[in-house]
Amino acid sequence: SVPDMEARVHEIKAHFGDRLFIPGHHYQKDEVIQFSDATGDSLQLAQVSAGNRAAEYIVFCGVHFMAETADILTDDYQQVILPDMRAGCSMADMADIDQTEKAWTVFQEMFGDTIIPLTYVNSTAAIKAFCGKHGGATVTSSNAKKMIEWAFTQKPRLLFLPDQHLGRNTAYDIGVPLDQMAVWNPINNQFEYEGDLEQAKVILWKGHCSVHEKFTVQNIADLRKNEPDMRIIVHPECSHEVVQLADDAGSTHYIIETLKKAAPGTKWAVGTEMNLVNRLSDTHIDKTIISLNPNMCPCLTMNRIDLPHLLWVLEELKNGVVINPIKVDSETAHLSKLALDRMLERA
Ligand code: 13P
Ligand code: SF4
Repeated sequence: SVPDMEARVHEIKAHFGDRLFIPGHHYQKDEVIQFSDATGDSLQLAQVSAGNRAAEYIVFCGVHFMAETADILTDDYQQVILPDMRAGCSMADMADIDQTEKAWTVFQEMFGDTIIPLTYVNSTAAIKAFCGKHGGATVTSSNAKKMIEWAFTQKPRLLFLPDQHLGRNTAYDIGVPLDQMAVWNPINNQFEYEGDLEQAKVILWKGHCSVHEKFTVQNIADLRKNEPDMRIIVHPECSHEVVQLADDAGSTHYIIETLKKAAPGTKWAVGTEMNLVNRLSDTHIDKTIISLNPNMCPCLTMNRIDLPHLLWVLEELKNGVVINPIKVDSETAHLSKLALDRMLERA
């Protein structure tokens, strides 16, 4: 039963004490997040993992790329475990390293040494290593603006991958006009761009988040009509049109902080993952908080981590068996760390 499973997780956590650390991303289910030693967005979880030297075992409640990042930022004696290996990220899967190397050859021919790669942390370790190797860095939704500004101090042009929306929304925010952003389609190896490529300052990889893409201009139009006094706040993984029509946009952390500070009685429609929206609605009972999309948008891969999987890996750990270890090879880890450190120094 659920209470039995919960009691058992408590027992195992007490048994390990500080030797076990459980980070939980804000998009995780409540049944999991109740056991996390730290909750955060992807930047905060990267920072707490980097700062933790006590834990021998880090049972990461989030998705695969986050567990890889935790492995890269921790020491060799620290073992990162992902409770379910199927907890991937469809966006991270949209930039494969072979496609990226191939695209980079094209960009080098066209632009020479005038381009720097930046990757959203929502990417594989191999892509982070690629950016590390070519003088680039990682970004999260919390520091994308700062990192794009930094990239332009290094080179006049940047490749942003894998999320075209975060790249476009953030570059637009710092003043890059839309007609200076080209899209690279890695499926057919072609640019999608009307203008003169020489003028393109930002090359956006054609990837997206299947959760945040479900918030639409129609959702906003419906809400404006039916609930005119409701404010709309969305994550920058939503499309440019949605971000422009919303009242406010920002990272997971920004959304949480904005709703915490909002006045009692205010009404909010939120365009981000459903576990978080539900939790915000349950926490702030003095405000009305709903999802911008009435059909709600869970991240199916985040939801793979559930109480039975968490308990399973913990039980095995107690028996001395490490299930689902996450280990990035040392060459990839070294190069990815260059990209992550360039971000963490500035975050
Ligand atoms: P942040 O945690 O950086 O806001 O990213 C959102 C996300 O999609 C995590 O997978
Ligand atoms: Fe990936 Fe989107 Fe899920 Fe985040 S919410 S893990 S970007 S699919």
